[in-house]
Amino acid sequence: MTTRYHPVLVALHWILALMIFMALIVGGPSLAAMDNADPEKLTGMTGHMIWGMTIGALLVLRLITRFITQKPAKADTGKAALNTLAGLTHWAIYALIAGMVFSGLIMASSADLFAITLGGSGSPLPADLTIYPARVVHGIIANALTALLLLHIGGWAFHQFVLRDRLISRMSFGKRKPAPQTQAKQQLLEN
Ligand code: HEM
Ligand code: HEM
Repeated sequence: MTTRYHPVLVALHWILALMIFMALIVGGPSLAAMDNADPEKLTGMTGHMIWGMTIGALLVLRLITRFITQKPAKADTGKAALNTLAGLTHWAIYALIAGMVFSGLIMASSADLFAITLGGSGSPLPADLTIYPARVVHGIIANALTALLLLHIGGWAFHQFVLRDRLISRMSFGKRKPAPQTQAKQQLLEN
């Protein structure tokens, strides 16, 4: 057990956090607000699709890193229900990010968006993408993910300001010392 997550996981946590917030708050909504007949929409859509697929690739890298590196012991809030909620929230966040990427890919393939944006086929965009179920699902998951991320940030604030245990340091760079109990055990063994 260590006191921090692996630096690669820490880097991926913050890069992905930034990329996901940008897609959720800026990229996606401004794209959806544009008229599909507007030629500028193609540029925005190409950018959003590449951005979204990059998030997908980084998520796979992050999951691999998570499984092959040492993690700190599960954080303890002192309340079993809160500890379970935190664990469930983390897995649900992973699942919903994957859901965003898959629904985006399915929408793009149903509406032939790859040929129109990246392939430069010259065909117009469909007048309304909401005729595709994957587009509707993309919007619903976006709202659910936003809600979960707010809960996640609430969890951070609870640790930071109520428990005052500086949980955030586990998701930051620095020396990865063994956890305090391990250190104590080691000292006992040495004596
Ligand atoms: C899009 C934004 C974010 C996503 C997708 C995200 C996702 C996650 C996930 C899945 C974990 C679990 C780590 C694991 O087991 O792999 C985690 C941990 C953590 N996140 Fe985030 N996060 C985001 C933003 C933030 C923000 C803005 C903060 C702080 C204000 C934050 C603070 C933390 C902390 C402190 C941990 C470590 C929790 C622990 O040690 O148990 N995260 N994050
Ligand atoms: C984690 C990754 C992603 C996030 C966070 C994200 C976020 C969003 C959001 C918030 C919207 C607006 C939803 C609404 O207003 O109902 C949106 C729209 C859209 N997304 Fe994504 N997206 C992601 C990945 C993808 C991928 C991989 C693709 C395709 C390859 C894609 C294609 C689209 C398209 C085409 C729209 C616009 C639809 C329209 O004009 O109505 N997205 N996205």
